[in-house]
Amino acid sequence: MTSTPRPAFDDPVSPPPPGSPWTVLRLLRWSTQYLAEKGINDGRLDVEHLLAHVLDTTRLELYLAFERPVGPDELERFKPLLLQRAGRKPLQYILGRAHFRELELEVDPRVLIPRPETEELVEAVLARVREWGREGLSAVDVGTGSGAIALSLAREGPFGRVVGVDRSAAALEVARANRARLDESAREVVEFREGDLLDALEPAETFDVVVSNPPYVTQEEYAELAPEVREWEPSEALVASGEGLHVLQRLIQDAPEVLRAGGLLALEVGSGQAEGVADAIRNRAGLGAPVTLRDLSGRDRIVMAHRSDGT
Ligand SMILES: C[S@@+](CC[C@H](N)C(=O)[O-])C[C@H]1O[C@@H](n2cnc3c(N)ncnc32)[C@H](O)[C@@H]1O
Repeated sequence: MTSTPRPAFDDPVSPPPPGSPWTVLRLLRWSTQYLAEKGINDGRLDVEHLLAHVLDTTRLELYLAFERPVGPDELERFKPLLLQRAGRKPLQYILGRAHFRELELEVDPRVLIPRPETEELVEAVLARVREWGREGLSAVDVGTGSGAIALSLAREGPFGRVVGVDRSAAALEVARANRARLDESAREVVEFREGDLLDALEPAETFDVVVSNPPYVTQEEYAELAPEVREWEPSEALVASGEGLHVLQRLIQDAPEVLRAGGLLALEVGSGQAEGVADAIRNRAGLGAPVTLRDLSGRDRIVMAHRSDGT
């Protein structure tokens, strides 16, 4: 038995019949289906964010207004955003902002979109330095990108000085714009510098914390990443040579030179890299025993060590 096709106007993913308005629910469903046809599954959440942005409301409010008509002007503003998302542009670049811990950061393709794992790196650093019970600490965030780590440490931690380093001048423009959004007390703590890893620091400049989420993706892994990452995010923020370990190894080599005695080195690493990074730390005189922490998905993603005496 063949079933009778439902009339198009009854189908929630079809455009409304001529003369009837789009409603919030119909537009959400239709757009989610549209993204699915473009190869983006699970697009509903992004569509909700885009429509909430256009209607100047929240996702929760959308749920309370499913039958609200969406006017022609609103539709005209929504369409280009949906088309950008269909072109695989990440939601955060379309909206120009990303949430990171307590911060709303400006982001665009000059900087990596900060990831939830990196929020955990910040959490791990804050937990450790709070145990010290001291104020006015200093930190350097190597490869600062949007400034996510440096600005969070300044806002949330007992820091009197935080230096964010990046070799990308374009990324530092974004980081500086994000610093300008902080409260004055936190803003004054942070300084950004252009340069190559720890070479960007002054001779004899030392810190209580060296923290980094450096590039650690191999070329082979990079080729397999989603178009959102490959086509939009800066590749120099992601890819490192030597099985993805080159930048991490340089940081481990150089960190004891800039860490104060007892200071903390905290590194985000890729899946499967923690053991190799821990070994590199064990082989570096001046660094104590490495500690590996898991992220919320249970993968070893953070490796930490203290500067030991006798560097
Ligand atoms: C994975 S992103 C991290 C961005 C930001 N810290 C975050 O966690 O979202 C790595 C950053 O390191 C920077 N970078 C790569 N190689 C570098 C180098 N040799 N010296 C300084 N910065 C570098 C890139 O420009 C990029 O901003």
